[in-house]
Amino acid sequence: MALGCSSQSVQVDGSRVVETLTRLANMSDHENPAVTRILFSPNDMLARKFVKDLMRENHLTIREDAMGNIFGRLEGSNPSAGVVLTGSHCDAIPLAGMYDGTLGVIGAIEALGALQRAGYKPARPIEVMMFTSEEPTRFGLSCSGSRAMAGALTPEVLESKLDSGGKHFLQVANEVGYGGTSTQEMLDATRVPEGAVSHFVELHIEQGPLLEREGLDIGVVTAIAAPAALEVLFVGDGGHAGGQLMPDRNDAGLAGAELALAVERHVLATGSVDTVGTTGTFEIAPGAINSVPREARLAIDIRDIDGPRRDQVVAAVLKSAEEIAERRKVRMSSRIINQDPPATCHADIVEAVAASAGAMGLSTKRMVSRAYHDSLFMARIAPTGMIFIPCKNGWSHRPDEFSSAPDIANGVSVLALTLARLSGGSWPKAEL
Ligand code: GLV
Ligand code: MN
Ligand code: MN
Repeated sequence: MALGCSSQSVQVDGSRVVETLTRLANMSDHENPAVTRILFSPNDMLARKFVKDLMRENHLTIREDAMGNIFGRLEGSNPSAGVVLTGSHCDAIPLAGMYDGTLGVIGAIEALGALQRAGYKPARPIEVMMFTSEEPTRFGLSCSGSRAMAGALTPEVLESKLDSGGKHFLQVANEVGYGGTSTQEMLDATRVPEGAVSHFVELHIEQGPLLEREGLDIGVVTAIAAPAALEVLFVGDGGHAGGQLMPDRNDAGLAGAELALAVERHVLATGSVDTVGTTGTFEIAPGAINSVPREARLAIDIRDIDGPRRDQVVAAVLKSAEEIAERRKVRMSSRIINQDPPATCHADIVEAVAASAGAMGLSTKRMVSRAYHDSLFMARIAPTGMIFIPCKNGWSHRPDEFSSAPDIANGVSVLALTLARLSGGSWPKAEL
């Protein structure tokens, strides 16, 4: 008797996923369509409850770890086997959109619902998860949850990151019911034991324009670029905007402006479209129209899929900062916040995603992810891959971020079939 045809029996309702994403988008510090959801804020806690309720409705067994990563499990016939894990994040940077990260959580819950409706029985257990704080907004550190799961976070690093209220992660985690008695204990409890995860797959919007521009359905991700984050501080003497003569100034704001332009110059000098650099924050103080800036603080993000090439740009930017400081007679200090290596997606998952899309008759493109994701850290502990769907004009991290219901249904279906392949379970027998 033939086996049931998985690509036809998995039914995903894209409009229902959009409707769920829209409800989630209302848990936001800014009014829709803008979404702002900061780690452990009241809206983040509401979103966590929303995700757990949805997991329960889809018959998943819930577990949370000490960092607040949330897991929903669909048991397999081989419960002691390493788990096939999928998921993404629900935190959102200020004035973001409603699909970044959330698609990979809500879409994954829908994928597990669709597999159950189709009568699929997993062999390896399958879990969907919501990572804690993929975005760096509150503590200036991206991917806190997945870093900790991968054992890539030390107490010293985590405790050195303070939020705007001067608190570190453990303090705010304890306030909302996560955490532990020490940062070390919390990190130890979060670290994933070796072999516990057999595969990791993340569904995400592309956050770039290529799929839409080329009219393609699914991006099969082969590598994930990694950012280096730097902070540079220039300090001058300041002065009166009228009284201080131009030759007597050491204007920290102008030193910062020169450095922002140097970032662009060094990035473009690699000649590769894969190298990108952004001066994302640039604060000057005291910040008065009639005051020569005393201080300029820049946060700079430099990314590439080629780690050594990215590191050369970082070194060139820091050298420029020193040269500018000397010429403009300002004091300078800098620190590297993180400088993570890029990741390569595992061939088994790349093939499983491509085959699943092929079984549905969808067009695909092998592509790199220029945005970072929790997958970057999951790749350190398990074979990892990603599935991209198109998003309008490649827009992301802005309120008008958009992916269509049909594209969402495609992505969720490909995820469901990929999870089924990796779990190695069984489909119901086809009716004859
Ligand atoms: C993730 O949000 C990134 O900045 O790539
Ligand atoms: Mn993001
Ligand atoms: Mn994201």
